[in-house]
Amino acid sequence: MQRILITSALPYINGVKHLGNLVGSMLPADAYARFMRLRGHEVMFICATDEHGTPAEIAAANAGEPVAEYCARMARVQSDLHDGFRLSFDHFGRSSSERNHRLTQHFAGALADQGMIYEVSEEQMWSEADGRFLPDRYIEGTCPSCGYDRARGDQCENCTKQLDPTDLIDPRSAISGSTEVYAKETKHLYLKQSALRDRIRDWIGTKADWPILVTSIARKWLDDGDGLRDRGITRDLDWGIPVRRGDAEWPGMEGKVFYVWFDAPIEYIAATAEWADANGKSEADWRRWWRNDEGAEDVRYLQFMAKDNVPFHTLGFPATIMGSGEPWKMVDYLKGFNWLTYQGGKFSTSQRRGIFMDQALEILPSDYWRWWLLSNAPESADSDFTWEGFQGGVNKDLADVLGNFVSRVTKFCRSKFGEVVPEGGQPGEAEAALMTEVQARLDGYASAMEAVEMRKATSELRALWVAGNEYLQHAEPWAVYKTDPEQAAMIVRTALNLAALYAAVSRPFIPDACDTLVAAMGIDAQAGWPESAEVALAALPAGHGFTVPENLFRKITDEEREGWAAQFAGE
Ligand code: 2FM
Ligand code: ZN
Repeated sequence: MQRILITSALPYINGVKHLGNLVGSMLPADAYARFMRLRGHEVMFICATDEHGTPAEIAAANAGEPVAEYCARMARVQSDLHDGFRLSFDHFGRSSSERNHRLTQHFAGALADQGMIYEVSEEQMWSEADGRFLPDRYIEGTCPSCGYDRARGDQCENCTKQLDPTDLIDPRSAISGSTEVYAKETKHLYLKQSALRDRIRDWIGTKADWPILVTSIARKWLDDGDGLRDRGITRDLDWGIPVRRGDAEWPGMEGKVFYVWFDAPIEYIAATAEWADANGKSEADWRRWWRNDEGAEDVRYLQFMAKDNVPFHTLGFPATIMGSGEPWKMVDYLKGFNWLTYQGGKFSTSQRRGIFMDQALEILPSDYWRWWLLSNAPESADSDFTWEGFQGGVNKDLADVLGNFVSRVTKFCRSKFGEVVPEGGQPGEAEAALMTEVQARLDGYASAMEAVEMRKATSELRALWVAGNEYLQHAEPWAVYKTDPEQAAMIVRTALNLAALYAAVSRPFIPDACDTLVAAMGIDAQAGWPESAEVALAALPAGHGFTVPENLFRKITDEEREGWAAQFAGE
């Protein structure tokens, strides 16, 4: 038994996430966590909201709520949706927690003690009417290059030119619209990341087993990007973690907060402390996951995220940890994802294009989404959600293959033998061949999961379901029954055992259907991964009672598909 720590990138607090966000981090992390628990490992699966920064402040202002209340409300909204999707976090924390305040300030103090932090005076745009400094992208004006009148202070959306706010003609605050904006002197803390370039390059060099997607992004930033330029870790904002040096004040930094990307990854650790607080556990209970000097040496730590988050997790967060000089756990395996697109275009939060988590659950139960998203996860390339593809995948895999198998065998058994596993008959060649196939598929599925390859894992699992269907198709218990009821009983017994096996091993992907099936087959919901195909196919003895489950999956009709495609076309 191993100890496995899993974190999913922390979703921003502002708004409900779309299916692209879900499949890029939380959902595959959940399937992996569930699989590892099934295999008997000790798992700690952590996520949290990412609450700080200007976008959260603005979303709160738009909602007409104080930012702390807005965040508390949205954290509940997100958490309820995670429950709806059956995301099995051991804890879903909040980056604004007391724990994260203390730990972020602790890291800043440790980094300062190591000589890794220095102060810089710089000019930043100040808005008189808003009474605050504004991040570059919250300054708007006319692009000096193309004349577009809503260019942002960091970039012109029209001609893509990178800008400084001072380049803009007629600059104004994007928040209030006020034109009384000017550059003003302010002081910030910088983290000396550049000093760690070699150590980080060496460390990435040891990660030959990581997805190419991830290591290539990391290398690009290390080599030709300026990803390891020293970076400002403080901001002039109200909402965030106040700048302190551990427990002490930081002279000159009054009224400032840490930059959201500094405190967010630290929340992975802090959220584990929140888990301890919420469950009456001790300090040692969470520290054994994170401190190499307190047991975390033995932990395998995996992170899940979309590719835009890779630079911060391969360079930024490791720099924080290495620079602190303290023995915190660093990531062992980083799984990155490409983009999920929607009907050939981008999912867009601002244009409400695509499907959002709340809407998805309003139209279909979570298993349908989980299965399609994970079996089409954007692993080696982007993948595209289309309603036709979704309908096809769900109807074929879930309804025609798995659902149909379970319903045929349980109903046939009920009609001929009653709701008990029938006795009699001797397994023969067909069963031996089935056993070999089942073992191969179980092994293939397990190794794909070990390798964190979701699409491959789902295709092995699908093949395991297909094997059941084909077995039933060829063995034809309904025909055999007419001449040899004992033989038919053996076939049905074998197939019922397959259904029980499916209930146990499909849980990482379709947990609700597995609950239904576990209850119907009268088996132990806690039973782990089967020892072997042979053991699994003999698990339900003759005489074991079961019930015919409700239809596990229904088909998506063409009318539904067309209706949803129109409903989700966007503004
Ligand atoms: O891209 C995002 O959604 C970020 N909120 C991810 C943060 S991950 C971590 F560092 F906290
Ligand atoms: Zn322009």
